[in-house]
Amino acid sequence: SLYKQKSKLIGLILPDITNPFFPALARGVEDYLREHGYRLIIGNSDEQLEQEIDYLDTFAQHNVVGIVASINEPHSDMLSDLNVPIVLLDRTVEELPAVYADQFEGGRLAAEKMLERGSKEITIIRGPIEVRPVYQRFVSSFQVLRQAGVKVHVFDSKLSFEGASKSASSLFEFYPNTDGILACNDIVAVAMMNEAQRTGRKVPEDVQIIGFDDISISELVYPGLSTIRQPAYEMGEKAAEILLKKINQQVLDDLHCQLPVQFIERQSTRKVG
Ligand code: RIB
Repeated sequence: SLYKQKSKLIGLILPDITNPFFPALARGVEDYLREHGYRLIIGNSDEQLEQEIDYLDTFAQHNVVGIVASINEPHSDMLSDLNVPIVLLDRTVEELPAVYADQFEGGRLAAEKMLERGSKEITIIRGPIEVRPVYQRFVSSFQVLRQAGVKVHVFDSKLSFEGASKSASSLFEFYPNTDGILACNDIVAVAMMNEAQRTGRKVPEDVQIIGFDDISISELVYPGLSTIRQPAYEMGEKAAEILLKKINQQVLDDLHCQLPVQFIERQSTRKVG
């Protein structure tokens, strides 16, 4: 008989799998899908709109039955034209299902932990403003530090290892008296920590550093990196679960699912009290 079997293929678009945050996310998606008989294909967008659109198109042409996407500029029109269920992951727009961690709480927590531990001239490493979660955590930290009345600097960095190391090399020329760094993610935090040590600063005695994500290497660097943990694996699983509900036309309780973040205390910050 003539019938077309539906594929069991799901597409996942990530910004950059060289950032260890994203493999953790991807494993969560993949493990959940495999358990339910689906298979995953992955593409990197480098946070570029054209690449995001290119993958959305390519996935649709290859008959994926659903898409999980960590993309910045979801074009609502284009997504509805695709006719494939989609769930956003780590990124959000109002009208689409999305799974993400609480960025405002994360930004607030990082700033408060830094203040409690006594830093008085704090530099926030901001990251690209078009990457929404990164921007949200920045805004939140900035507000808390401003209200506390400490000296605050804002310093921009790319999110990759190479980009971050490059930016790091001029950080202390601009702000030599910085005694606290809030980094937009752990990769950037590690780059800044290397630079602090390279310029003869002790971490955490002279400069305290807090990252964001809690990627695997944060535990391995010296000193261990204090950070805000995003539950990447669980976020991935949850996105896959919601996508399968959509594929099977089940009703979603909530369009958006926000997971909690947590401060992980290691040695790049001082002990309180
Ligand atoms: O894409 C950059 C960042 O966004 C990651 O490091 C992670 O923090 C994510 O939320």
